[in-house]
Amino acid sequence: MSQKAIAVLTSGGDAPGMNAAVRAVVRSGISKGMKVYGVSRGYNGLLTGDVHELHLRSVSDIIHRGGTVLYTARSEEYNTPEGVKKAAEFCRELGVTGVVVIGGDGSFRGARDLTGEGIPCVGIPGTIDNDIACSEYTIGFDTAMNTAMEMVDKIRDTAQSHDRCSVVEVMGRRCGDIALQTGVAVGAAAILVPEVPYDLEKDVVSRILMNRDTGKKHFIIVVAEGVGKVHEIAKKIQERTGIESRATVLGHVQRGGSPTLRDRVVASEMGYKAVTLLEQGIGNRVVAMQNGKIVDFDITEALSMERVFDKNLYDLAHIISI
Ligand code: F6P
Repeated sequence: MSQKAIAVLTSGGDAPGMNAAVRAVVRSGISKGMKVYGVSRGYNGLLTGDVHELHLRSVSDIIHRGGTVLYTARSEEYNTPEGVKKAAEFCRELGVTGVVVIGGDGSFRGARDLTGEGIPCVGIPGTIDNDIACSEYTIGFDTAMNTAMEMVDKIRDTAQSHDRCSVVEVMGRRCGDIALQTGVAVGAAAILVPEVPYDLEKDVVSRILMNRDTGKKHFIIVVAEGVGKVHEIAKKIQERTGIESRATVLGHVQRGGSPTLRDRVVASEMGYKAVTLLEQGIGNRVVAMQNGKIVDFDITEALSMERVFDKNLYDLAHIISI
């Protein structure tokens, strides 16, 4: 019987810890007697043939590196029925019988479609946003939160020196998890997230005024990207309170950097799990974390799940930031 071959790709926005996941996939695959190919630039690599066999030492010295050594992309051509068929054909020619896809929801839809064309795929949640409904954790989230926290700590130094209010936007287009966790960790006076509607006067301005009455002189407001408008919010705060206010958008700094211990460990566990599924010929699954354990779900089921926002932590954050 010919040697089983699998491929691994990273797709969508990069996230710290993706390299640790790639390393785990390659080493687990080889230890199980498989050939492992690395696909460059997401699904594009399956269309252009930009695929290379990876060996044990190909993934040396990457566990601590941010970004993705496989590069990443969002592929328009792949997002067509013809594109998916072409990618599946390429996999068959190469003898690839399974693909590990590291990315977010969009990447999982691609994995579901490729599975539908006869190439079993397993998804691994890799995105700093923590916005995959079936998993309580996504690779890159811990590193991004810690980066955001460090950046806000620096902003606090200058806000404190000038008795200012700093309004800081963190990433999270559809998900307020980075904002929530960072907001708690920096003692933000208010946290604005896409999951909870807000009233600027009641939820921000009056909180600042109340805190000022009890002696507080500088303020941090953490805003998720999905809420946005930080410059407008800072301007209104200044107008309504008389406190000099500044806006900062942290942006892509949150996507880079060496992954934290948590991201490296979870990535290693998830990479291994994905390979064990493909080894058994099981595809159309997403690896996930539930109650701290590594589990897996059907991709279609996973994509239809609703994310649950931690409203208890959100309420608690506002109770103690007085
Ligand atoms: O990785 C997730 C994310 O950082 C979102 O929070 C953000 O909106 C988006 O990616 C930006 O991605 P890009 O700059 O690659 O389009």
